[in-house]
Amino acid sequence: MDIIKALQERRSVRKYKTDPVPEEKIKSVLEAAQMAPSWKNKQCWSFIVVRDPGRKENLADSLPVSNPAREAIGQTAPVVIVLCADTRASGDKDGKDYYMLDAGLAMQQLMLAAYAEGLGTCWVGLFDEGKASEVCSVPSEYRVVAMTPLGVPEKVPAPRPRKEMTEFVYAEEWDQPISF
Ligand SMILES: Cc1cc2nc3c(=O)[nH]c(=O)nc-3n(C[C@H](O)[C@H](O)[C@H](O)COP(=O)(O)O)c2cc1C
Repeated sequence: MDIIKALQERRSVRKYKTDPVPEEKIKSVLEAAQMAPSWKNKQCWSFIVVRDPGRKENLADSLPVSNPAREAIGQTAPVVIVLCADTRASGDKDGKDYYMLDAGLAMQQLMLAAYAEGLGTCWVGLFDEGKASEVCSVPSEYRVVAMTPLGVPEKVPAPRPRKEMTEFVYAEEWDQPISF
């Protein structure tokens, strides 16, 4: 698949069919994550593939009831992927914690590969980390950075609005408008 098409058309999917996801597709999206760039190639990420319905429900309980991804995590999506990071395995330079970036890049690659495989994902960041960590027995040295449902989309949302390019792209110097 054309990468530009995937970048333009990926959406955060929160409505899923309950159809199972074939093993090879799960492997394929994890292989995409494996190839992400990272601080000194330390690859500080770990992914936990959750398929057990009871465990998915327990994970959903770590999300506030107001989180619009709660039903996808706990009920509809057949797979949930939990993203963890070893904070010791990445850089911390000038107050920038690179483990978040490393883990985020890996998850983004996973999400784009999922799109290419006809699957939906949704980065879920609003959850009780302690609860999620307990549900998946994550060691205390690891942070639980995010999770995503993975499954066949039931409904793909319309594109969310984006800022105009002029609001975030400058030419040569801060605040200098760019034209194309
Ligand atoms: C750091 C981060 C945290 C997010 N947390 C949640 C979340 O807890 N629940 C949810 O439904 N969506 C969550 N999202 C998804 C965003 O709402 C979504 O990416 C944004 O609205 C743009 O929509 P799009 O991904 O379809 O382009 C999160 C995204 C990011 C990057």
